[in-house]
Amino acid sequence: MARSAHSLFRPFTLHGVELPNRIAMAPMTRSFSPNGVPGENVAAYYRRRAAGGVGLIITEGVYIPHDASGFDPKVPHLYGEDALAGWKNVVSEVHATQGRIFAQLWHVGQQITGGPQPQPGQAPVGPSMPLSEIEAIITAFGQAAANAQSVGFDGVEIHGAHGYLIDQFLWERTNHRTDHYGGSLIARTRFAADVIAEIRRRVGPNFPVMLRFSQFKVADYDAHLAKTPAELDRILAPLVAAGLNALHASTRRFWEPAFPGSELTLAGWTKKLTGLPTMAVGSVTLGTDMATSFRTNGSSGTEGIDKLLDCMDRDEFDLIAVGRSLIVNPLWSKIVEAGDVDQLKPFDRNVLATLE
Ligand SMILES: Cc1cc2nc3c(=O)[nH]c(=O)nc-3n(C[C@H](O)[C@H](O)[C@H](O)COP(=O)(O)O)c2cc1C
Repeated sequence: MARSAHSLFRPFTLHGVELPNRIAMAPMTRSFSPNGVPGENVAAYYRRRAAGGVGLIITEGVYIPHDASGFDPKVPHLYGEDALAGWKNVVSEVHATQGRIFAQLWHVGQQITGGPQPQPGQAPVGPSMPLSEIEAIITAFGQAAANAQSVGFDGVEIHGAHGYLIDQFLWERTNHRTDHYGGSLIARTRFAADVIAEIRRRVGPNFPVMLRFSQFKVADYDAHLAKTPAELDRILAPLVAAGLNALHASTRRFWEPAFPGSELTLAGWTKKLTGLPTMAVGSVTLGTDMATSFRTNGSSGTEGIDKLLDCMDRDEFDLIAVGRSLIVNPLWSKIVEAGDVDQLKPFDRNVLATLE
């Protein structure tokens, strides 16, 4: 008989937002929003996952109101009348099925991966930008969060992971500043802390603000922001103090130990060090990690489910995000709850060509 997945289906309250279970949809860029406007197809895509039993949806990365936040004309915006009307519709569709949805706030910085490139007149910015530009971007993050709140989102997730702008400030290899935004590990957290504080100032105390961070970068899977738990503590403590309510530790495989000498995962350490609600992610019910699956079609893997239930049973972290498996299995939650994990379809990168 299949093992009970009960621990995955316990309710959870995230800073006042009641979630029916521990399952989240991971943020995934889909590029189906021409001119930055999410349409009915985007609303139907998210609604389908909410109706399929996902406790919390985190949207794809959404550009904040800044000229260089990103260069893909089909990535949605969190600004402008049309885009905000589009999001209002997405949110109400998700809410209509009792779902919950956070917007992911995204600025790519200097990392332009594949896809559309900057046009003449569009210039990427990175940590070495002038102070006045830094201030403009901090303001833009605050504005995006306020916009998200105004159209009814249940919270926001700041994209501080994978080598994009916030992570470029956090990482010693990409932050070459010598003022208060660079140099020591603590100084490198300052930009992220200022972004969090500005968002908190704009949205008030009750609106959930989560930060996604990672050790790895899209262009460097072996990178480490923190080499020890003590370093991780020194990075996270000022960010929590700036006003976070939750953290999302992004890894390629959620079950891997984060540091030598302990079995604890990155999400496990994050929860232990901060005491905040923590989400894990990475290769849930998949046989291959993200980079490999873009080269080959992945196998489905039921092996991870036992590791996930082990972590859930001992409350190592609170929530689990599911990415690719949820693209191919909109009913992921219902299938797993019924104990039919072996019915899950494997990820096939060709499904990314359409939004279903
Ligand atoms: C098509 C695709 C788009 C993604 N876009 C984003 C994104 O916009 N923001 C983000 O933080 N992570 C993004 N990711 C990473 C996912 O959120 C997730 O961390 C990753 O897919 C690992 O989870 P999985 O193994 O369950 O797929 C993306 C992943 C995929 C496959």
